Amino acid sequence: MPREIIDIPSTRPVRRLRRLRRSPAARSLVSETKLHPHDLVQPLFIKDSGEPEKVPSMPGVERIPLDRISAHCAKLQDLGLHAVALFPCTDPALKDPSGTAAFDPENLICRGIKALKKTLPELLVVADVALDPYTSHGHDGLLDPQGDVDNDRTVAALERMAVLLAHAGADWVAPSDMMDGRVAAIRTALDDAGCTHIAILAYSAKFASAFYGPFRDAIGSASSAGTRSLDKRTYQLDPANRREALLEAALDEEEGADALMVKPAGPFLDIIREIRERTDLPLAAYQVSGEYAQIHAAAQLGWLDLKTARDESLVGIKRAGADFILTYFAESWARDYQKI
Ligand code: PBG
Repeated sequence: MPREIIDIPSTRPVRRLRRLRRSPAARSLVSETKLHPHDLVQPLFIKDSGEPEKVPSMPGVERIPLDRISAHCAKLQDLGLHAVALFPCTDPALKDPSGTAAFDPENLICRGIKALKKTLPELLVVADVALDPYTSHGHDGLLDPQGDVDNDRTVAALERMAVLLAHAGADWVAPSDMMDGRVAAIRTALDDAGCTHIAILAYSAKFASAFYGPFRDAIGSASSAGTRSLDKRTYQLDPANRREALLEAALDEEEGADALMVKPAGPFLDIIREIRERTDLPLAAYQVSGEYAQIHAAAQLGWLDLKTARDESLVGIKRAGADFILTYFAESWARDYQKI
């Protein structure tokens, strides 16, 4: 008779890590990373009036008219979400090369913030500071005669914009422009305007990414620029650069940022981890529109399971070291969390 080698292993492992993976209860006890609705910030696109409008490249995401924004956010609050980041879809007729509409205290974003703070004062509102929703060329700042973004004139514009957003009621302003020196300048401008209590969430390591395409469709910065692959490489970081990202984060901390952010999240988990280990400030990560779109697209084709891919993408970002995550999945994730 041949010896049954399968039945008689010559050695047996002493450490069997599978023991703790046997049941959902065991797995939940040893789970190292737990997401909670309080970890998530819902980005929202607002429009002036009319009906909600689907964003084709972002299934489940709509441009929400101003008169429905409070009801929409009340629903988010009921799901346990405490924070939103607002982005305006500016009427193309209001856009110009200088982004003039950004400085109008009655512009869409200011009206949106005011409406929200009036009805839902406890909801934390994050407002982006950058000119791209307002410029006809789609860039985040003012252009110099050569067509590059002029750093220092742009920073001066951002100071005005930050004060305006703070006066409208934004709790946090989030410079997403990647100009040099903007955090210090915005801090001083806010303090001079009596807004010492307004926090700065700095998009510190914001990479020049292909994954912003659907966002540019959503706010119309792509169509005004005539291309969704708008080239922002003279101000956003090269995705190849790790040390430069760390320098940006260190500078923002020195300049007085209250919290730092890495964006996009999924392709830059190493950067999230490294910044986490170098700063004691809270760290955010932005799972951007393209990260959301690619999971939805694959799910629509039947190539990925939407919810498990969503959950894995989010837990990976938290595990890498993010304290909180801006994600278009916030609402759907929080809804499923409530069911558990
Ligand atoms: C622009 C801004 C962008 C995003 C947030 N603020 C896009 C860009 O730099 O062109 C992208 C967010 C996303 O893709 O979800 N200041």
